[in-house]
Amino acid sequence: MADYERLRERHLAEFSALVPEHLERLRWPVERVREERERRLRALLVAARERSPWHGRRLAAIDPATATEADLTRIPPMTKDDMMADLDGIFADPRLSRRLVEAHVDTLVDDAYLIRCRRARMPAPDLTAVGAAFGRAAHVLLDDPPYVFDDTLSIRLPDDDVLRAVNLLGPDGRLVVTREDPRAQWRGTFVGRARFVEDFVAQRLAKGVDQYVILGAGLDTFAQRRPEAAARLRIFEVDEQGTQRWKEARLRDLQLPIPPQLRFVPVDFESGDSWVDLIAKAGFDVTRASVVASTGVTQYISRDALVATMRAAAELAPGTTFICTFILPVALIDPGERDLRAATEERSAGRGCPWISFYAPDEMLRLARAAGFDDVCHVSASEFNARYFAARPDGLRAASGEHLVTATRTDRVVGTKS
Ligand SMILES: C[S@@+](CC[C@H](N)C(=O)[O-])C[C@H]1O[C@@H](n2cnc3c(N)ncnc32)[C@H](O)[C@@H]1O
Repeated sequence: MADYERLRERHLAEFSALVPEHLERLRWPVERVREERERRLRALLVAARERSPWHGRRLAAIDPATATEADLTRIPPMTKDDMMADLDGIFADPRLSRRLVEAHVDTLVDDAYLIRCRRARMPAPDLTAVGAAFGRAAHVLLDDPPYVFDDTLSIRLPDDDVLRAVNLLGPDGRLVVTREDPRAQWRGTFVGRARFVEDFVAQRLAKGVDQYVILGAGLDTFAQRRPEAAARLRIFEVDEQGTQRWKEARLRDLQLPIPPQLRFVPVDFESGDSWVDLIAKAGFDVTRASVVASTGVTQYISRDALVATMRAAAELAPGTTFICTFILPVALIDPGERDLRAATEERSAGRGCPWISFYAPDEMLRLARAAGFDDVCHVSASEFNARYFAARPDGLRAASGEHLVTATRTDRVVGTKS
């Protein structure tokens, strides 16, 4: 009760302090009221531009320092569809994300209309996966051949709503591809890692390995682009359910092949569910070797989830190789890349997918060995550059901040040809 009294007195004092000023405002001339409205409008514009990426883009042409009420007519209205398309970009607090809001809504037991609608809502893709798909396609769309990796199919998957949500749809309804787009600036990294993994799968396939598991597959199009290899493999794409349901529907809409040996297996790596058990239920043969690859995922999942994933992969059949990319701590990357890296992290966090895990190469190699692998190789960005980009006259390179590790149990036989 004493606390309540103190609080009441404080509120009363604060309110009373405001009264003279507010009484005085009642006598303000119209011009003064307009000035005050515009002062507040300018403060709002500054906050919106600084704190909300989505508003920042839409308000880019309006200078908050000189804005007047007349400028309001230059701001397009925000519709509910706009909000749902890029809620993460609209939120002014980077800690808030649509994913968090949805997780909270899912805990509500009230059977209200809106909650029921949300539960019936169509699935949507992970937007970071759309960015990576765009990065791969951007190489072909912006660079001259020969291509390190040729995947424009991936960017056919997102429909206009999705492209709009990630700011890739121009006013003419066409894909916007510019060298300035940070996702395009990462294209060397995106295509280098994809090329590495698919070359590796081809080598292992030649030795008789016939299972390929793609953890965090996103908009991977191996099964559609490489039908001959795909026909000789069992392929398991593992990702969150929403991304997978959306992707499967889009493949069907676009009449792209979903070969019978391709399985979509929904798993959340943070849930504690065993992805090995789940792919086994979908037809994975735990007695046969496989390539298990995960590109562009480790930065989004906790260290515990990565360790569990590595341990599970290390327990698979003889000759299985686990491959994953990882993001270096900022202190270990080229200083010239730090601004791009910061902008990328900020955008990703704004979309509800913050980068939460970073690894120095030594640490990643230690984790792989501790998980049970004995043949562990580090593939640095310099190695990617030497392999795929050295002969290119256009200067395309892999960024210094993403490396890769391959991890195999050599105490067991590689290959399963019988
Ligand atoms: C940047 S994308 C990379 C996609 C693809 N591997 C590539 O290189 O283009 C990251 C992928 O990891 C998936 N992912 C992130 N966190 C996950 C989790 N906890 N469980 C399952 N998948 C997750 C996302 O849904 C997304 O498809």
